[in-house]
Amino acid sequence: MTINTSVSQISPVMATYSRFPITLVKGKGSYVWDDQGKKYLDFTSGIATCNLGHVPDVVKAKLEEQLQNLWHCSNLYHIPNQQELAALLTANSCCDQVFFCNSGAEANEAAIKLARRYAQKVKGTDSFEVITFQQSFHGRTLATLSATGQEKIQQGFAPLVKGFSYLPFNDIEALEQIKTLEPAAILLELVQGEGGVIPANQEWVKKIAEICVEKDILLMVDEIQTGIGRTGTLFAYQQYGIEPDVISVAKGLGSGFPIGAIIAKEKAAKAFEPGTHGSTFGGNPLATAAGVATISHIIDSNLLKHVNEISVYFDEQLTKFKEKYTYIEDIRGKGLLKGIVVGNKAPQIVQKAIENELLILTAGPNVVRLLPPLTVTKEEINEFTKALEKTFQSIEKGE
Ligand SMILES: Cc1ncc(COP(=O)(O)O)c(C=O)c1O
Repeated sequence: MTINTSVSQISPVMATYSRFPITLVKGKGSYVWDDQGKKYLDFTSGIATCNLGHVPDVVKAKLEEQLQNLWHCSNLYHIPNQQELAALLTANSCCDQVFFCNSGAEANEAAIKLARRYAQKVKGTDSFEVITFQQSFHGRTLATLSATGQEKIQQGFAPLVKGFSYLPFNDIEALEQIKTLEPAAILLELVQGEGGVIPANQEWVKKIAEICVEKDILLMVDEIQTGIGRTGTLFAYQQYGIEPDVISVAKGLGSGFPIGAIIAKEKAAKAFEPGTHGSTFGGNPLATAAGVATISHIIDSNLLKHVNEISVYFDEQLTKFKEKYTYIEDIRGKGLLKGIVVGNKAPQIVQKAIENELLILTAGPNVVRLLPPLTVTKEEINEFTKALEKTFQSIEKGE
């Protein structure tokens, strides 16, 4: 076999992301380093994934232990870490059983399949519709991009998977349409992340939950970005006084090791019988080792108390920016998922922040999204404040 060693001008990696011109090679806690040895304060956490900071010792130790024993076996056998992680997730939520997969999109895909099977095999109806919301984001597989209420994500992928209707977010009156649509489920984010860091109103969420109970429609919350302590409770729904039937999680669950899951109430979970859904890697020994260490650490170290305290300090610092810079329209979000609404300046601000050794994100063109690790300290927030101040000043001067 001849190996082609010619140097191509084209990147061997597909251009599905427009990447910043830095290469990250190392991380610890709230910091990452590039291949030139430059250190950055990371307030992106790999997009809400490295919730315990980079390379957390507890997760590293558990992964190292598992690496010595068994990396993978199929789901045809019992996997102790999987059992343990499922027990942790169900003991700390309103749900009873877990299905493991490898990403957020796969978790939502499983939720959508579960909703259809619940409607058709448990309830004995022919409904399949899942109601989602405008500006939502649920993933990039065909079904989850069809579930996503943003045209830009769907362009060029027609025909979409049928069976999704998008209602306006936070609009109580529009919920009347649920009754005529007779859906199998409603799927929502409690803070729309990619859509612009928009928290759901309490009253609106409660109304949805009421309709779901009344009509036996599955209430499914997409906690892929809001879950695993991000908003100050293990799951954001715990601040809304509701009990979802299905919770989808991924991102922070493995502290950076790929894993996804749906956690479902028994009444919904029983719609999946042997052979109805599966995944080769889902819940494998390594992924669930990372999950067990992550969830155990959040609970045992009382990390959520820290999140609630530090997010008050974070809010105070962000509010000062709003008072100072007139183009800041709003500061919104929950816990350590925050958005600064900045007109159309978000991409420019994120770009400029890199020069000040700070990594932050956009959520659309109008919002700067901030996702520090849950372990962030006051000193690190002060460092962030200085770097952001410098960034805002450069933007004001038109630099
Ligand atoms: C709310 C929400 N749902 C689903 C997804 C898709 O997750 P993944 O990229 O792991 O497929 C994301 C990713 O950003 C998300 O924020």
